[in-house]
Amino acid sequence: MNQSTDPQKTGMAAAPLPTARAILDRMAARLSCRDFDGSPIPRDELLAMLADATEAPSSCNQQHWHFVVVDDPAQLARAADLAGGNPHFRSCAALVYLCFQKGWTHDNFSVVQGVAAAGYHLMLSAHLRGWQSIWNAGTGDPDKVRALLDLPPTFDNQGAIAIGRARPDAPGRKPPRRPLSSVVSFQTFARPAETVYPARPAAAYPYHAMSRASNPFAEWDPTRWTPAQLADYRAWSVWAKSPLAGVYTSRRQGEATERELDLIRPLPPAAQVAEILPWGGTSTVTLAQRLPGDARLTVVEAHRNNLDFIADRLPREGIARPVDMALMAGARLPFADGALDLVVIPQSLEHMADPAAMLAEVRRVLKPAGQMVLSLRNRASRYGAEWARGESRGQVPLQGPFTPLRPKALAALLQDRFVVEDLHGIGLSAGGDAEVLTAGPLRFRRRLLALRARPV
Ligand SMILES: Cc1cc2nc3c(=O)[nH]c(=O)nc-3n(C[C@H](O)[C@H](O)[C@H](O)COP(=O)(O)O)c2cc1C
Repeated sequence: MNQSTDPQKTGMAAAPLPTARAILDRMAARLSCRDFDGSPIPRDELLAMLADATEAPSSCNQQHWHFVVVDDPAQLARAADLAGGNPHFRSCAALVYLCFQKGWTHDNFSVVQGVAAAGYHLMLSAHLRGWQSIWNAGTGDPDKVRALLDLPPTFDNQGAIAIGRARPDAPGRKPPRRPLSSVVSFQTFARPAETVYPARPAAAYPYHAMSRASNPFAEWDPTRWTPAQLADYRAWSVWAKSPLAGVYTSRRQGEATERELDLIRPLPPAAQVAEILPWGGTSTVTLAQRLPGDARLTVVEAHRNNLDFIADRLPREGIARPVDMALMAGARLPFADGALDLVVIPQSLEHMADPAAMLAEVRRVLKPAGQMVLSLRNRASRYGAEWARGESRGQVPLQGPFTPLRPKALAALLQDRFVVEDLHGIGLSAGGDAEVLTAGPLRFRRRLLALRARPV
């Protein structure tokens, strides 16, 4: 048989290999590692992976990719410092920067598409060879990355793949995938309504006009989203990272969670407590540490994925007490009337499609002597002005759209439902300060408004 038509040789064999299912299952078991053990990788093994990667397709077979491998510990530490948010750069064995040559391209980012194909092939090769990896777009300031790698101006970097050995107790949780039925349609576009998110009305949405820092189409007002859209948006992306201790801790927040929870009054024995939309468990950790041992805490989320993430995370944070997990449906809380002693809403009211309905629900589920501790970002603060001028012009954050509220809007929401017993103003700008004002009108200018209220 002519070599070029031999299906085995061309890689176009009709019958699946007997091991294909096993290989596909192995590939599907790949998951991102953010907890490496710091051990090195032999260069020949790395080069074998890179040789695999270059079997990927590329636009016109130009192979405009270039892989800068960083495996020197001092250079890895510099890369980690640059990236900021990806501390695993420091402990991986090697970082493979995905670069490409500019100046020749078909449209549709074809050069970038080719590098991406090679990048995923590299990850699969690493995985099948028994190594762990993670893709990272977050490499840091592009100019500084260029300087670090001595990258010529005609080349760009789009990300880096970290490869190494996972620590024995590294999280083994692979984030769930959307159901196929919601991401596949035949012939023409079709998708469930809750998976198509609101954008500001516009004649067109050119991709080039959108960036993280500037997105004129981003719809930040959660009341323009349906509860199902909000739940779906947060369910897949926001808690995508590994459920390691300390993950998703906000630089803006600083000690503010502690100061918000200072408002909790002593609880009765065996108190029933609920926390609503708790930031992937970030705020739950602080709350769970502070509650009396006999209190029962239930975390309430809008999607099962968020609860699964929190359940994985809490033991890693050293939380040994049992924490119940429950789903809300829209603004409907999963509790009987008058069941709870304390409801905590940790800066999540401003993320809700219908904050008034949520407060009505909190009132319904609280005991007459129960307490609500609510904190929220204040639009009438310096932070609120910064949000309006800066953050709100960018893309909607992964934890969902939000709009800081003014004290007047908060008062209107509470009116006829709650009596405010204590109100603190916390912090000034978004720098993480958590100084508390407990009295006086300046409270209403603070970054956060935190209050304890009881049902009317
Ligand atoms: C283009 C791209 C960029 C990514 N950037 C980062 C990153 O900067 N930091 C990080 O921790 N994870 C990053 N990830 C990893 C994703 O969070 C991860 O692939 C996703 O949550 C799915 O999880 P899995 O890889 O375990 O299946 C990136 C993944 C891709 C494909």
